[in-house]
Amino acid sequence: MIDLSRFSLEGKVAVVTGGSRGIGRGIAFGLAQAGADVVVTSRKLPDLEAVAGEIKALGRKAVPIAAHLGRIENIPTLVDQIMKEFGRIDILVNNAGASPAMGTVLECEERLWDTIMNLNLKGLYFMSQAVARIMKDQGGGSIIHISSMDGIKPEPYVGIYSISKAGVIMATKSMALELAPYNIRVNSIAPGPISTKMLDSHWFHLPEEQAKAEKEKAARMVPLKRIGEPDEIAGAAIYLASDASSFTTGETILIDGGCTIASFEFVDPSTIK
Ligand SMILES: NC(=O)c1ccc[n+]([C@@H]2O[C@H](COP(=O)([O-])OP(=O)(O)OC[C@H]3O[C@@H](n4cnc5c(N)ncnc54)[C@H](OP(=O)(O)O)[C@@H]3O)[C@@H](O)[C@H]2O)c1
Repeated sequence: MIDLSRFSLEGKVAVVTGGSRGIGRGIAFGLAQAGADVVVTSRKLPDLEAVAGEIKALGRKAVPIAAHLGRIENIPTLVDQIMKEFGRIDILVNNAGASPAMGTVLECEERLWDTIMNLNLKGLYFMSQAVARIMKDQGGGSIIHISSMDGIKPEPYVGIYSISKAGVIMATKSMALELAPYNIRVNSIAPGPISTKMLDSHWFHLPEEQAKAEKEKAARMVPLKRIGEPDEIAGAAIYLASDASSFTTGETILIDGGCTIASFEFVDPSTIK
């Protein structure tokens, strides 16, 4: 019989990057509900303070720390601040990600490549490295990377984003292999379309009514016939963060409403900005 207390995060310290809104906020709440104290980090302190305030109302400790994770020189200071506050890190959810600005392979410029890669892949890798060094000294921990279904099956016109997320899936496997001897598990969650500011950025350039229609059209293409919600990612994060997943490492869990098993309509490049 399974001991359901293995899902509990009581007494653990979790760090959620990109925790100010969207999927990160949903995960931060889920981890706190499961018992963890939480550090939320992103660039904008006021948004983080609001989330931390809501988490504290659940009876957990919550600390907001602002940091730009697309600049890896900020990582040591961030990790030092967390260690000063809590003295340990049991769970890292590496969720912060850059918006996949649309563009064709023929048009994309180096600046866009650097912006997306510096946050989605380089920032993620070096944040996990810094935290893994701490977890090694502590005797273990759980690292969760937020990748994307686009890292498994490419979507047209968000190529650099898809490439970065495929890199996240391989970073997950590569780190899981090397860190297993230290009892550090590394897994990833690959969301499909989830209702957040990032998803809405696909249609920002359109008038409001047209954007709404396009979002509804996108929802109809999902086999489950809807866009997911951020809290539908939180359950997998609780599982991967907790002892319930103690034999799971290097894995990527798809949460995409069935998108990757479906065929997509190919969008004409002349219809996108
Ligand atoms: N929504 C989807 O459909 C979907 C699907 C698949 C995968 N994902 C992945 O899920 C993750 C979260 O996405 P989301 O949809 O929740 O996006 P979102 O609503 O745009 O949230 C992104 C979060 O990342 C933070 N962030 C952005 N740039 C940052 C930087 N340079 N340094 C530190 N923090 C930064 C943002 O806060 P600040 O602006 O304050 O920095 C925010 O907290 C991303 O990795 C994304 O690729 C999303």
